[in-house]
Amino acid sequence: MNQEQPNPGRKVVVVGAGNVGATFCYALAQSGLADEIVLVDRNADLAKGQAMDLAHGQAYFPAVSIRAGGVADYADAGVIVITAGRASKANETRLQLLTQNAAIMSAIIDDIVAQQATGVILVVSNPVDVLTHVAQKRSGWGRDRVIGSGTVLDSARFRYLLSEHCDVDVHNVHAYMLGEHGDSEFAAWSMTHVAGMPMSEYCPMCRKCSDWDGEKRRLEQAVRDSAYHIIGYKGSTYFGVGMALVRIVGAILRGENSVLTVSTRLDGEFGLRDVCLSVPCVVGRQGVVRIVESRLSEKELSALQGSADVLKRALDELTA
Ligand SMILES: NC(=O)c1ccc[n+]([C@@H]2O[C@H](COP(=O)([O-])OP(=O)(O)OC[C@H]3O[C@@H](n4cnc5c(N)ncnc54)[C@H](O)[C@@H]3O)[C@@H](O)[C@H]2O)c1
Repeated sequence: MNQEQPNPGRKVVVVGAGNVGATFCYALAQSGLADEIVLVDRNADLAKGQAMDLAHGQAYFPAVSIRAGGVADYADAGVIVITAGRASKANETRLQLLTQNAAIMSAIIDDIVAQQATGVILVVSNPVDVLTHVAQKRSGWGRDRVIGSGTVLDSARFRYLLSEHCDVDVHNVHAYMLGEHGDSEFAAWSMTHVAGMPMSEYCPMCRKCSDWDGEKRRLEQAVRDSAYHIIGYKGSTYFGVGMALVRIVGAILRGENSVLTVSTRLDGEFGLRDVCLSVPCVVGRQGVVRIVESRLSEKELSALQGSADVLKRALDELTA
């Protein structure tokens, strides 16, 4: 990992100009992190329309070029963010959706490889861990440069819910969701800190809730259920993930070496191999600079193994 790569600058290409892609571009434009934002979609009119609409706000956010583009734009992109894919249809199995989204992902990766791109690929389309694995294998690139957004969004949801519960500013809450971006994800309570204190010290000091174990279970489940609730209310989720993507892309473009729970292929870490899932990673210019092998509790390690099993079964189904 972390071999020297040329620095392709602050150009970000977003493949998939739908809800997630466009919302991410909107947040990215306002962040001032990118010099150039290029939207690519198989629906060329949609990419053009989104780019025009965003560019018309140019007077009110930091200077950045925004336009629709094509596969040639992959070559010198610093980050290629893939949000292309589709949601499930009625009467369709999970495997049918997975097979179709994996085919879409493979075709995009082939285009990226053909352009001899030098940047980082960030997979967002769901199921994100399986598609990150597909993208990683298909590209033949090092695992550091092909990563998934993983549980970066879920960790933000966890921090938000915990901060509300504890009545402490979210910026003083450090907490991570690990494993699959999906039903088998889990809260890494052993790594959770409020006001710099581990929960085992903070809770006895705070004494706000009488049944902390029950509260822990409730909070963890609320994080898992978040997407279902939002989809139930409005059909899909895109604001939270858009901001989570700005956080990841910013860490890459600025070489921040930030600790983020992106989805990455494990190669023996935590006793797991050849599966992409979220663990704490140092994210910098080349993508995953290193994996942080945090000391998880027995229960957390077994939950991580549980996520790996779920994801390996999905990969097996895909390749069967
Ligand atoms: N990882 C996360 O945390 C997270 C969160 C929310 C949504 N998602 C996922 O992001 C994906 C996009 O969601 P959305 O709401 O933006 O969907 P959407 O339908 O609004 O947009 C998807 C876009 O992909 C485009 N597309 C499809 N195939 C393509 C191809 N081969 N090349 C280029 N573009 C192509 C479509 O034309 C469409 O514009 C979904 O898979 C969704 O599940 C992930």
